[in-house]
Amino acid sequence: MIARRLLALAATPVLAALLAGASQGGGAAPGAPTAGDPYFPQSGDGGYHVVHYRLDLGYAPASRRLDATAVLTSTATQKLSSFFLDLSGLTVSSVTVDGRKAAFSRSGVKLKVTPAHALPRGRSFSTVITYAGVPKDVTDPDGSADGWITQKDGSVFVAGEPQGAMTWFPSNSHPLDKSTYEIAVTVPDGWSAVSNGRLESQCASNGRTTFDWRETSPMAAYLATASIGKFQVQSYRTASGLPVYNAVDPAEAKAAAPVLAQIPAVVAWESTLFGRYPFDAAGAIVEHAHGVGYALETQTRPIYDRAPDIDTLVHETAHQWFGDSVSLDRWKDIWLNEGFATYAEWLWDAQHGGPGTAARLAADYALPATNDLWSFPAGDPGSAANIFGTPPYERGAMVLEKLRETVGDKAFFAILRTWAGERRYGHGDSAQFVALSEKISGERLDSLFATWLYGQGKPATP
Ligand code: ARG
Ligand code: ZN
Repeated sequence: MIARRLLALAATPVLAALLAGASQGGGAAPGAPTAGDPYFPQSGDGGYHVVHYRLDLGYAPASRRLDATAVLTSTATQKLSSFFLDLSGLTVSSVTVDGRKAAFSRSGVKLKVTPAHALPRGRSFSTVITYAGVPKDVTDPDGSADGWITQKDGSVFVAGEPQGAMTWFPSNSHPLDKSTYEIAVTVPDGWSAVSNGRLESQCASNGRTTFDWRETSPMAAYLATASIGKFQVQSYRTASGLPVYNAVDPAEAKAAAPVLAQIPAVVAWESTLFGRYPFDAAGAIVEHAHGVGYALETQTRPIYDRAPDIDTLVHETAHQWFGDSVSLDRWKDIWLNEGFATYAEWLWDAQHGGPGTAARLAADYALPATNDLWSFPAGDPGSAANIFGTPPYERGAMVLEKLRETVGDKAFFAILRTWAGERRYGHGDSAQFVALSEKISGERLDSLFATWLYGQGKPATP
């Protein structure tokens, strides 16, 4: 998958130069130090795919120190003399590949690993990285904090979109590479650690408790979490048997309770619209976090920096289909995540006493041409600093409403369900979404998308 994508992107000069080194002579060559995404050229790595991550993390809230071991089970997609992982800060003390000591070096956020012997293409191999230190979040191009975000009391808000995974574990950190995870976190008694998927076990010994989590569906690194706090925990099964696990900071508990109580209803409602819920667990992590300012659709269990309102819960839940199960293969297509999750809010509001979706579109269209909404096209943000700006969210939702008004409800919801169903656990891009919309509706939609998804400024007519 990675190799195929890299070839497709090789037309870009930077990448062509990188790949020239990687393809000489037919012998072993270094993996590329990038997944080839122009918005985040330093993210991700070529030459291998991580099938599974096993992370053992020990965290001391008093000193904020993390002591960790990561075991990555990977497959080489080329003959590899060396390969790269993404890791920001922290100190690596040892790396082994298939049980043998490997050489390693650091440069910026890249950890280069050179195994004792080249890895043949197709080989499955195991990399063990031992590392420690006080993790530090990174600042994204839009100015927001991302990654392992420590709070004054030692609790930690862990979110990784788009590039923060590297602040707490070594990874192939681009949504092109999706993997299963086991994340075990050991914290002092009284503290809890909450990750993705199901809690396999919770064991206390010598004043510390280990929370061992399993995410068995493929997950992009940015959707992993291991959030730590003195949480109130609630766990139960929905009427359909889906396990729900909520971890809530006591300071937010009262405000969060009525909204979190809606999780089963929101999952059931979205399942009727988008097709079956893709994962085997659900829930929420609600923190009382400073300096974050956003929520994230961490897979199976979204994380909120405060008690969410119902629209935010509906939004992050919709991302489980759009963004988590069906992933981007380049950040430019962020509207496929944010526009869809925002449209889910429009649908919820329309059915719960709010304005209809057509009225929403009309109200947005009425905004003056100087409004932020029109500052760049939803389908072409232009730079990494813009991916979480207004257009991918709000204009993204407008595109979907225009599509719905053009093709009718029956075709529109068939498009959404087919997108989520056919690409479940995989990837999709904008051109593929346009093609699917044309196929299902039987209509030519190029001018609709040219105007509403890619048009600069405010369209001349509503
Ligand atoms: N995907 C998140 C949401 O819409 C937003 C993440 C923003 N992250 C950031 N680094 N600015 O719910
Ligand atoms: Zn979102």
